[in-house]
Amino acid sequence: MRILVTGGAGFIGSHIVDAALAAGHDVAVFDDLSSGKRENLPEGVPLTVGDLRDAEAIRKCVGAFKPDAVSHQAAQASVSVSMRDPRLDVEVNVIGSINLFDACVASGVGRVVFASTGGAIYGEVPEGQVADESWVPKPISPYAISKLAVEQLMAVYKAQHAHADGGLQGTACAADDRVAIRERLRSAPRPAR
Ligand SMILES: NC(=O)c1ccc[n+]([C@@H]2O[C@H](COP(=O)([O-])OP(=O)(O)OC[C@H]3O[C@@H](n4cnc5c(N)ncnc54)[C@H](O)[C@@H]3O)[C@@H](O)[C@H]2O)c1
Repeated sequence: MRILVTGGAGFIGSHIVDAALAAGHDVAVFDDLSSGKRENLPEGVPLTVGDLRDAEAIRKCVGAFKPDAVSHQAAQASVSVSMRDPRLDVEVNVIGSINLFDACVASGVGRVVFASTGGAIYGEVPEGQVADESWVPKPISPYAISKLAVEQLMAVYKAQHAHADGGLQGTACAADDRVAIRERLRSAPRPAR
């Protein structure tokens, strides 16, 4: 399978790249390197340095690589940055995702997996409780609002572009606390390949 990973030079994205390569898939990455690093990527993985806010850049990348599936990790991913600059989350996370979905529809991409968030969408979760999908979302940051908006936009795209052959299928997944714990390794050097 051909898999495009947006934000593939970032923390989670680069692990997805590793896992997809190990499973024998063809992988390409689209990333503006705003927080990701080129050296997070194994040698030979095609990297398009581009900004999701640039609709033409992502359209060209998707059109050229023609992925079967997209793992959408690219985001402004900091809650505190979003509190200071909510516009950035709307531009990168919401408009950037719309640009990606439009590019996927234009190129007939069948599958998109979107990295949402479990930690932020449900607001303040009482100590000792775990929020699952049955909880009513109560986002309290622009970051969480942007992620919830993209989940809901995905559902609209899925309904709008469904057809007999499948059409665009979107899935949102949420990183949980285990990811946050593993994130402490973010600054640790990556093992030599
Ligand atoms: N790390 C966590 O615990 C956690 C928890 C919940 C959700 N998430 C989500 O998972 C995804 C990956 O998170 P991460 O921790 O790896 O973050 P990260 O900052 O390491 O990775 C994000 C990547 O996106 C790229 N990027 C940012 N803006 C871009 C733009 N405009 N155009 C193209 N590329 C852009 C960055 O350069 C970076 O490589 C994000 O969508 C984040 O919201 C992460």
